Amino acid sequence: MNLALTTSILPAGEAAVAAAARSLREGGLVAFPTETVYGLGADATNPKAIARLYQAKGRPAFNPLIATVGDLEAAKRIARFDATAIKLVEAFWPGPLTLVLPKTSDCAVAELATAGLDTIAIRVPAHRVARDILHAFGGPVVAPSANLSGHVSPTTAAHVQSDLAGRIDLIVDGGPVAVGVESTIVGCFDEAVLLRPGGLPRGEIERVLGRKLVQPPGDGDSGRPLAPGMLASHYAPRTRVRLNAGVIEAGEALLAFGPVAVSGVDAATSVMNLSARGDLDEAAANLFGYLRALDARGAHTIAVMPVPHHGLGEAINDRLRRAAAGRD
Ligand code: TXA
Ligand code: MG
Repeated sequence: MNLALTTSILPAGEAAVAAAARSLREGGLVAFPTETVYGLGADATNPKAIARLYQAKGRPAFNPLIATVGDLEAAKRIARFDATAIKLVEAFWPGPLTLVLPKTSDCAVAELATAGLDTIAIRVPAHRVARDILHAFGGPVVAPSANLSGHVSPTTAAHVQSDLAGRIDLIVDGGPVAVGVESTIVGCFDEAVLLRPGGLPRGEIERVLGRKLVQPPGDGDSGRPLAPGMLASHYAPRTRVRLNAGVIEAGEALLAFGPVAVSGVDAATSVMNLSARGDLDEAAANLFGYLRALDARGAHTIAVMPVPHHGLGEAINDRLRRAAAGRD
């Protein structure tokens, strides 16, 4: 495959939506905003397009993709929904929740997209541009995050461009996304299992189900097929990341959180605060952009202040842990 493509960038709007749908129909790769992060879309029923997508991301083909669809009716054509799944759909779709469900017997999504599993990850995004593209295209669209495999997910069109220019056909620029971390993934098996903490806090899901979500054993990097993409180092910047920093050391860049200054802050080469007022939603929206920005500043280490674990803090801490597991 020739990766030296010309990647067009169009501002979100009617022309961009039409161009996106046309490109998807032709087997193209189209990045577009969702409310969580930017996704890289391909026709879910077209194995050639999906093969191109794995290659463009440098993603191992054993790591299955999320299928996005416009509504529950479309979702039911590709996955079987039990009572628990329906409850979650009614409460949270469209929105930042992905469900892993058994595939239907006539599921049109290509085997390559589901890595040969008999389950499929599926979600209905809430972002207007994503919804317009899904509607105009009219079929399921696989949409992993629009970054090179192993990089942090993109929250702006510029992030997509810096990872994937020359590798994909079109980027639809809808501005910065609202949530900033990827969707929460829940597997509806015998029990409801939290496969990935994400943009929908665990507590909201547990409130609707009236019971706790089950935690998969291990970290998903143990080779278990439950959430194959959850490799320990999945969200790694190049710079070393040091978590729960209580004192900043000379030459470190600081990723701060909250109103209280950490000791040694004057020694930091640069400082970005995820949320000076200590708001976890704001912190999630800033997380990947700030990690990318600090990564580009050439410090030997990015020191990260502790982030509380409630609400979106669970997803933030999960991504930070993976960033720290990255490169040593
Ligand atoms: O917010 C999001 O979910 C974004 C936006 C673009 O929709 N997408 C996203 O996709 O984060 P991706 O490919 O970066 O992450 C999908 C995760 C991977 O960890 C993958 O292993 C897991 O979903 N997954 C996909 N199919 C699965 C399945 N059948 N069983 C378990 N995990 C699955
Ligand atoms: Mg990803």
